[in-house]
Amino acid sequence: MKKVIIIGASSGIGKELAKIFASNSYEVGIASRRTDLLNELAAELPTKVHVATIDVSNSHLAIQSLEKLIQDMAEVDVIIISAGTGYLNPSLIWSQEKETIDTNVTGFTAIAGVAMRHFINRKSGHLVGISSIASIKGSNICPSYNASKAFISNYLEGLRKKAVKEKLKISITDIQPGLIDTAMAKGEGLFWVSSSQKAAKQIFKAIQQKKKKAYITKRWAIVAWLLKILPEFIYDNI
Ligand SMILES: NC(=O)c1ccc[n+]([C@@H]2O[C@H](COP(=O)([O-])OP(=O)(O)OC[C@H]3O[C@@H](n4cnc5c(N)ncnc54)[C@H](OP(=O)(O)O)[C@@H]3O)[C@@H](O)[C@H]2O)c1
Repeated sequence: MKKVIIIGASSGIGKELAKIFASNSYEVGIASRRTDLLNELAAELPTKVHVATIDVSNSHLAIQSLEKLIQDMAEVDVIIISAGTGYLNPSLIWSQEKETIDTNVTGFTAIAGVAMRHFINRKSGHLVGISSIASIKGSNICPSYNASKAFISNYLEGLRKKAVKEKLKISITDIQPGLIDTAMAKGEGLFWVSSSQKAAKQIFKAIQQKKKKAYITKRWAIVAWLLKILPEFIYDNI
């Protein structure tokens, strides 16, 4: 039986991914801060489930807790980091910027490191990070969120290069969602908003295919392409 750990599985994309992996006979480890929601989810899943309370923004403890979860599951094939946070923060309130960086940058790096060390030891594995289309450009209303997602995508690219150069049998997938109907989809004028179920289906497929990068839903590849070619003087004024 294959095994997966999903960090950030109490709601949204991570929760739907846990359901899909379990229905595909994976043993599942689910982690985040809201243990009550994780236990509710665990009761729904048809395969063996391990629940761990992990706050990735407390990187020291998060490393220990994830190492323990991996030990409890003996070996893990796939580790998905869906945990993330962000605020519309035009006033640049420091506590919100800091929480975003602690979770999406420091926390992400800490747990990606645990995953990589596990995969290096067992000589194979698959690390998946849920970044965002927001990684492509800076934002005036949520600058730390977009910057943190740029960090995640760049970090994953670095880990992929490490795997290739060191001939490690480790796959790295950078998932870049556009807009998904969860608590994280904030702001006005939202468009092309997908359900978390549809998003999770497409993410599961991208993981099975060991894609390096996937835009979710697929049509967001068009927005990604536009953002990449848009001249700075136009982007600054829209
Ligand atoms: N929804 C979108 O439109 C969208 C678009 C692009 C990218 N994304 C990314 O998708 C990922 C999942 O978000 P979602 O849309 O599914 O929203 P969500 O329903 O709010 O899920 C966020 C998940 O992250 C977990 N989390 C947050 N802070 C955490 C922490 N400090 N430690 C551990 N877990 C933490 C939450 O669990 P607890 O609260 O229980 O800890 C929850 O399970 C995020 O990384 C987000 O940036 C979302």
